[in-house]
Formats: sequence, structure tokens, C-alpha cells
Amino acid sequence: MHSLANKRILVTGASSAIGAQIARDILLLGGQVLGTFRTAHATQIEQLSADDSFESVYWDALNEPDFLGVSSAFDGWVHCVGTIHPQPIKYLNEAGNERLFGVNYFSATHMATALVSKNLLKPGASVVFISSVSSHYPYRGGASYAASKAALETFAKALALELSAKKIRVNTIVCGLVNTPIYQASVAVHSPAEVQRMKEKYPLGIGEPSDVSMPCVFLLSDNSRWMTGAQLLLDGGLMLNA
Ligand SMILES: NC(=O)c1ccc[n+]([C@@H]2O[C@H](COP(=O)([O-])OP(=O)(O)OC[C@H]3O[C@@H](n4cnc5c(N)ncnc54)[C@H](OP(=O)(O)O)[C@@H]3O)[C@@H](O)[C@H]2O)c1
Repeated sequence: MHSLANKRILVTGASSAIGAQIARDILLLGGQVLGTFRTAHATQIEQLSADDSFESVYWDALNEPDFLGVSSAFDGWVHCVGTIHPQPIKYLNEAGNERLFGVNYFSATHMATALVSKNLLKPGASVVFISSVSSHYPYRGGASYAASKAALETFAKALALELSAKKIRVNTIVCGLVNTPIYQASVAVHSPAEVQRMKEKYPLGIGEPSDVSMPCVFLLSDNSRWMTGAQLLLDGGLMLNA
């Protein structure tokens, strides 16, 4: 239903569970993907590279995206890079904070400026940012992560406003827990009983990467042409218990 035929889409963090699934679904729907990775020989990137419509490029989100100099314009951009660094406020330090904001927030602002100033987003393009429910409901030890995602969400709205004249749309997906390496790392710091309590808060259970990628391809497609500045909540019903 949601054709992405002939659409060229930039997916940052295509080496991640969620980013890789989004890239796979874009390819399935006929699109082309330029996916970024940071870790060399990432399994997901190697698998995706079997498809001729997939290209990959190394990018460390803590640096400027210099690869954009050689790229042609995009019909879409999904910003999926993200990192966590559990730190109770008592132990917050500047380096940890800078890293979290660098990857989760400034990577998006730098990329947006680079793409817009170089006219690398075509009129009518669709941009999707991946955020977290913690931006609205922070958790203990996740102050900086939550704040960086809240900043990302507000930035997305401002970007939507500024790009609307070109009919470029910007929306955010706000996720609850999804079963990926970032989730495994965050549950590793909790006891099994705490993890169980966390899971029980999700009436539909925690998500899988495809639960995020399907709504994402809808947002990338022309079927969502009247949506911009929106926040799509994907949380398996978590907020029903908030
Ligand atoms: N899983 C969840 O429960 C959950 C919930 C809400 C929101 N999210 C968001 O969903 C997105 C994807 O996360 P995920 O769960 O799939 O986690 P993940 O597997 O850990 O993926 C993180 C991605 O970010 C990339 N990345 C991290 N630091 C980077 C850096 N300095 N430069 C460039 N790339 C960097 C990683 O690249 P490499 O692997 O190549 O290093 C990887 O592609 C993130 O934005 C996350 O905040 C996840």
C-alpha cells in the first residue's frame, strides 16, 4: 500500500536493530537507501548490502556528516542514531552529558543544517526522527537521555515549521521499549524482578523493530502527505497505565 518506489532515503543508524528494519522495509517497498553505520562490519549492514538499492557510508554522529558533499538529494531522511548512558543525576558528568546530547540531539541538528543548506532534501520530502517515551516520562538514571530526546522532539517541530514552505514534512516516532541491543543494555542494569515489573506495564508487551518500521514507512510515504510536526506514539499501550 505504501509505495516508496523511486524514493531515495537516508537512514542514519542503519546498523541498528530499528534502523536496519526500517532500511529493509524501505527496500521492500521499492525505495533506495543510503544507510549510515559507525561500527565496522556490522552484520545488519552486510546483510542489507546484498540489495543493489542499498548503499552504506561510515558516519560518526559526533562529527560533521562530510559524506553529504557527494550525495544527490533525498526524498526522505530517517534519523535513528541513538545511545544511552544510564547515570543517576548525582553522578552526571560533562563528558557523559556531551556524548548523549551529541549522539541523540546535536547529530540531528547538524545533519538537518547540512541537508537543508545544501538543498539535499527534495521538495515534498519526509523526515522522521526516532524518539523515546522517556522524553515525556523520564526514568531514574535516564535524565540526560530523556532530556536529549525531549530536545530532539522540539527541534523536529521547529524544523517542520521552517520546511513547510517546501512541503517537506517532519514527524517524530515516540517509542516505548523495543527489543534491541539498546534495550538489552538498559535492562542489564536492573534486577530480573524490576525488568518483569517494567514489562508488565506494557498491555501489548514490549515492541519489536518491525512495530516501529511499519509506521515509519507510512510516514515516509505520500499516504501521510497531510502529517507534519506530529508525534506518533508507539508504546504498546504503556501510556494507558501512566
Ligand atoms: N530500543 C528501545 O527500547 C528504544 C526505545 C525508544 C527509542 N529508541 C531509539 O531508537 C533508535 C534506535 O535504537 P535501537 O534500539 O535500534 O538501538 P541500537 O541497536 O543500540 O542502535 C543504535 C544506533 O545508533 C548508532 N550510533 C550510536 N552512537 C553513534 C555514533 N556516535 N555515531 C553514529 N552512529 C551511532 C549505532 O551505530 P553502530 O551500531 O554502527 O555503532 C546504531 O546504528 C535510537 O535513537 C533509540 O534512542 C529505542
